[in-house]
Amino acid sequence: MDILHAIATRRSIGQFLDRAVPPEALRQLLEAALQAPNHRMTQPVRFRVLGPAARHGYGAALGARKAKKLADPAAARAVIDKTSAAEVAVPAAIAVSVVLDPNPEIREEDYATALMGVQNLMLAAVALGLGTRLRTGAIMDDPHARAALEVPDGERIVGIVQVGHPASTPDAKPRRSVDEVTRWLA
Ligand SMILES: Cc1cc2nc3c(=O)[nH]c(=O)nc-3n(C[C@H](O)[C@H](O)[C@H](O)COP(=O)(O)O)c2cc1C
Repeated sequence: MDILHAIATRRSIGQFLDRAVPPEALRQLLEAALQAPNHRMTQPVRFRVLGPAARHGYGAALGARKAKKLADPAAARAVIDKTSAAEVAVPAAIAVSVVLDPNPEIREEDYATALMGVQNLMLAAVALGLGTRLRTGAIMDDPHARAALEVPDGERIVGIVQVGHPASTPDAKPRRSVDEVTRWLA
């Protein structure tokens, strides 16, 4: 597939078909991610392909955060169970993390390379007929989520990329035009 076509048709996918993603396809996506530019070739990015137990543990941590304000324990349990079941139901999920460098400048570069890798992964997914969605947020620093994903101290979780066959593909979200955001300097 032409790269410009992949860029133009990539979308964040909200719902996936109940269809497995072959491990070979996931490996291709990870290979694509590792081709991202990487200043100083620090190679800080780590992946965890999440199996059902890891997904369940992560979902329980996410659910517990959602349920925090619920006084009724049964209602809280229901939210936790629903959230973890939803995570387990996603066809495939990859946690992307970076090993934290003590130097803040390198840490920033390393975070950038991780997200460039995520974009490579997402575009490669389009080429393979797959869809993706990047999930981030405060849950990435949650100790229970980190434990479920087996992320040690000294590593930052950048995001979780969900992968699967899209159940539907949303329309493109409008972007500002190039003219609106660009100045061509002398
Ligand atoms: C750094 C980053 C973090 C994101 N985090 C989330 C997230 O936590 N949950 C989510 O549903 N989408 C997340 N997204 C996806 C964006 O919401 C999405 O890219 C945006 O709405 C544009 O839609 P599109 O990807 O279909 O073009 C994230 C995207 C980026 C770049």
